[in-house]
Amino acid sequence: MVTLGPVGYTVDDKAQESEHPMAHGRITGWATHLPERRLTNHDLAEMVDTSDEWIRERSGIGARHVDGRVSEMSVIASRDALAMAKVDPTDVDLLLLATCTSDQQFPASSSVVQHELGMSCGAIDINAACSGFVYGLVTAMQFAEGGVETILLVGSDALSGITDWTDRSTCVLFGDGAGAVVIQRSADTPTLLGWDLMSDGSAAGVLWCEHGGKIFMNGKEVFRRAVLALEAAATNALAQAGVDIDDVALVVPHQANIRIIDAALKRLGIPLEKAAMVLERTGNTSAASIPLALVDALDHGRVMPNDLVLLVGFGAGMSSAAAVVRWDPPTS
Ligand code: UT7
Repeated sequence: MVTLGPVGYTVDDKAQESEHPMAHGRITGWATHLPERRLTNHDLAEMVDTSDEWIRERSGIGARHVDGRVSEMSVIASRDALAMAKVDPTDVDLLLLATCTSDQQFPASSSVVQHELGMSCGAIDINAACSGFVYGLVTAMQFAEGGVETILLVGSDALSGITDWTDRSTCVLFGDGAGAVVIQRSADTPTLLGWDLMSDGSAAGVLWCEHGGKIFMNGKEVFRRAVLALEAAATNALAQAGVDIDDVALVVPHQANIRIIDAALKRLGIPLEKAAMVLERTGNTSAASIPLALVDALDHGRVMPNDLVLLVGFGAGMSSAAAVVRWDPPTS
């Protein structure tokens, strides 16, 4: 093991030799949803002592959507993703919902979504904060590898409900949204070629929210750790996939801060132009951020059959996760 820095995110020398099975699960439908209410930086400047210029320069964010509910946003994105995949909700075998802002303590928001969609399959919430969608993708692919035919995976968060709207150091960053993908078991070539899931609970206190409380964040410490975590997770997943960074056609990083993305990509040797980006218009939407960026790239024709896509995120925990996926588009 090679330690990258004092925070302890590590590149695993053995990653290439590891035994993670390459999984077969094709993404056959995708969709997103943002709540209606949009707050621009100018709106925020009327609420706290900040400016459009400061927010754009320090984070790359221009606007965010707020007042969302996890179950409602998830249902809308899921319906569209299922329609695209031409999958009837009753044919879904498993629902995975990545969220850290469930609408209620219990039941899981996935149970509410399952009912709203008219499904009867198992439903699980996954809380890995902003890394949740990649944790969910890796989990879904293992289920597909194990024989489950159709999985609905959603990343959905409503951070506006736990944001302190009087705290300028956090409220300018966060927003709400959802992204859903349908994953169907495929007998063809593997799609998930490499992955890495990490958590450093010793740093849990740097980004924290009590039950019923608001987000506490040590921004500088999160920033420092995020860059190292993104680099380590991506490096491990690429090594396991046995591919070089130059082989990657598109990187889908967690949309937290343009400066974090820029610094991590520089360390990895990937030009910023290869990154999927929606940050400017969504802010940091936690578990929704990677599917929002992925769907945007897909909708803009940025991914071709057989392209390698690197998804990489980090978040509270401190969790981090990366996946290297060979794009195997649905045959219509
Ligand atoms: O999913 C993970 C979630 N979290 C993150 O990704 C956050 C990671 N951290 C960051 O993105 C950055 O640390 C921030 C964007 C939060 C802050 O950027 P920074 O460059 O680290 O700024 P700073 O905290 O060093 O603050 C610089 C100055 C301070 O004023 P003084 O002490 O220099 O007079 C702050 O009080 O900027 C001030 N400041 C603001 N000014 C205008 C802090 N927030 C604001 C604001 N508007 N919204």
